[in-house]
Amino acid sequence: MKIGFISDLHIDYLKSYSPEDMVEELALISSEKELNYLIIGGDISNNMQTTINFIEILDKELTPTKVYFIPGNHDYWQEHNEEKSTWEFHKIFMDHPQSLMRQPLIINDELAIVGHMAWYNHAYYQRDKFTPEQIEAGRYKIATWQDKKRMSWELPDEEVSIIFKEAIIKHLEQMDGRQIVLVTHMVTTPDFTIPMPHRAFDFFNAYIATNDLDGILRKYPVSHSVMGHVHIRHRLHKDNITWVTNSLAYEKEWRTESIRQEIEHAMYILETEK
Ligand SMILES: [Fe+2]
Repeated sequence: MKIGFISDLHIDYLKSYSPEDMVEELALISSEKELNYLIIGGDISNNMQTTINFIEILDKELTPTKVYFIPGNHDYWQEHNEEKSTWEFHKIFMDHPQSLMRQPLIINDELAIVGHMAWYNHAYYQRDKFTPEQIEAGRYKIATWQDKKRMSWELPDEEVSIIFKEAIIKHLEQMDGRQIVLVTHMVTTPDFTIPMPHRAFDFFNAYIATNDLDGILRKYPVSHSVMGHVHIRHRLHKDNITWVTNSLAYEKEWRTESIRQEIEHAMYILETEK
């Protein structure tokens, strides 16, 4: 059994490639690597409908590889003239048949994938430099954290993080002792925030990670915590858990000019015997 994980495709930030190129490359790589499943960890695009269309096309083009996803914050962004609320978008992402937020993916008697976007809760930032009110507002000098402009949960971030933690626990409880791969968009460990002191991330690290999942990662048999959002690629083994960031990231952030090389570098592949 082979499962591929990749996140932060950001198909609307491509410059020298098109979304069709992305589909084609993912199809080629999935067939070469003989992936049974491909899991996309959010930030597919800045538009809900574009994201949904993309993952549906991907599932069709990648046969026999089955495609599942969770959304990221960018997938909830909207233009000023759109009328749906963030929670309405959330319902659409919750109900989609390929969404891991709808139901976990049971691979076999021994392994399951539990997935949710999760949400940041301001766990990590320079507390001596900013007040909690400044952080919740999201404005720093001339920059504003874009989620504060382009979406609204109508609740403080800390409360959203807890609501999503409860949703994750509900799914973890149903896994009957199986080994669990937890896929989130948000970062679950301070190891993958941006090292501080940092000119911008002393502030913006507040919107990268949550620490609400710390306890449950240890309470349930979670072997892997796979995440995106932060545009670094890293793997770490700590506290009996393998921690993975697997963002493809914006094309302008790539180290090479080859979409194939970048996808292969970002993708994490989990292989099991059964
Ligand atoms: Fe993100």
